[in-house]
Amino acid sequence: MNKQPGPSVNKEAAQAAQAQAAQHPATQLPATQHADLQHVQAAQHPGVQRPAPPTIDPAFIRTEELFGGQFGSARTHALEQQYGNGKLNRLLEVVGAGGPFRALTPWELQDAEGHRVINASGYAALPFGDNPPELNAFIRRVLEDPHQMLFAQQSVSEWRAALEANLVRLLARESASAEQNSAGDDSHASSRVFFSNSGAEAIEAAIKFAQAARPRARYIINFARAYHGKTLGALALTPNPSLQGPFRNILSPNVITLPFGDADAVQRTLKRVGADKIMAVITEPILGEAGVRLPPVGFLKRLGELCQQSGVLVIADEIQTGLGRSGNWFESVAQGLIPDIITLAKPLGGGVTAVGATIVRHGIYKKLLGSVETVKRHSTTFGGNTLAMAVGLKSLEMLMDQGAPARSRRLGELGLARLKAVQARYPELLEEVRGAGMLFGMNFRPVAALPFKFQANLISEATGILALVAFYRGGALVNFSLNAARTMRLTPAMNIPEDTFGELFSRVERTAQAYPSSFKLVQRYGTPKLLGLLKAAFLED
Ligand SMILES: Cc1ncc(COP(=O)(O)O)c(C=O)c1O
Repeated sequence: MNKQPGPSVNKEAAQAAQAQAAQHPATQLPATQHADLQHVQAAQHPGVQRPAPPTIDPAFIRTEELFGGQFGSARTHALEQQYGNGKLNRLLEVVGAGGPFRALTPWELQDAEGHRVINASGYAALPFGDNPPELNAFIRRVLEDPHQMLFAQQSVSEWRAALEANLVRLLARESASAEQNSAGDDSHASSRVFFSNSGAEAIEAAIKFAQAARPRARYIINFARAYHGKTLGALALTPNPSLQGPFRNILSPNVITLPFGDADAVQRTLKRVGADKIMAVITEPILGEAGVRLPPVGFLKRLGELCQQSGVLVIADEIQTGLGRSGNWFESVAQGLIPDIITLAKPLGGGVTAVGATIVRHGIYKKLLGSVETVKRHSTTFGGNTLAMAVGLKSLEMLMDQGAPARSRRLGELGLARLKAVQARYPELLEEVRGAGMLFGMNFRPVAALPFKFQANLISEATGILALVAFYRGGALVNFSLNAARTMRLTPAMNIPEDTFGELFSRVERTAQAYPSSFKLVQRYGTPKLLGLLKAAFLED
């Protein structure tokens, strides 16, 4: 068990602060200034008498306690359960896969018990793994400049300007040949970027741009099992009853959900509802949270054509697929669909900070933010801040230098071939496997029969959790899928070394060998542990 400093460390800090106060009685700075800040100031201005630090609340956790892994696993779990999302953390603790972890390398994690896993999780937001040294060194360099303006909101910013330009130029390059005959003056070469702080926020912005550009249209078409985020606008476009649950009455009712991949249904709906009443169609080019579901060949291209003919806008949500993950810079564009609005997030933050981006054709952009009256109609305090922009710029540069899309495609084919072989060998465990670049889905057979819907959902959830545990024990950390409980996803870093990548799939094979049918997932988990899991799942927090 790790040592837990607890409140006694705070007590020591408080005593030290009091001793200092006795030595430096002239207090001039506000009482809220902390001792460590005053040490820095004293070093910078040695001639100036510094005031006494205030007494610190002994329950307050000092930053010093967090360094060097000394905080302790049990203490971390206890605090998270008491003050955070207790239920989720309790479940993760019970199954034993909830960390805290240390990153041994960007691609391998170690838990408090010393168990090592290859990190194939990260929900596609870790393009370079966890704690990537090159990006970290770059961030330190940015922060070493004492005159760097870090909060450039009401001013231009070099970092933001450069990232805006690079994103637009990348999109313009990728869509140039397809746009030659179609986009007229409003090609992506003149597109604009709006930055925010998450994927969901990038979607919120996309909805507002679309509505502002087509003010008389009321409806948005989305697709079954899509995932666009959990803020209210994005949630309205995420047709998952359990996620929408109690919020239904505050979500927009003007969403028409069609089967993913059914272009005829789109065509019929445009005709039935009237294209002038539909502001946009939003689609992921590959359904990520639905467990890596690819559309039928030609669907995205036809969708683009239908929308272009009818004047309906297309929003491509590339938050999960984009910037190389699925094997292309923009999966939609590669499949022949040139969207009017593209949303990006996860890999832009390099696994270090949050960056959301909404790229919009100029003609649409100016409808929302194009006049003195409307220029403040959409904004966010932290969107476009220096650190986020610098990280975004560097992440994009690293992806380019690494040739991320081509590498994802090549490794993706190797990985998918190995998954298919495992599925063919253990069909009682794996119903189906799917993949696109470095985005892999493994659909497990339910651990028990699925008689009624209520039970079916629970059994699907249990299947997912038990599969996660099995892989964890087998040395691989995998992702749940928010819209497909029985599908585990592998989203390894796009720069994962080839031997580690190979070892990941060897571990998948060995895990399947150890659990050749999904029933084995339950059997080998053990009755006492299963009871513990049920207790954690059903008892009040
Ligand atoms: C396709 C897609 N859109 C939107 C989102 C929401 O992004 P965030 O979790 O950053 O809000 C996600 C997140 O998984 C996603 O995969």
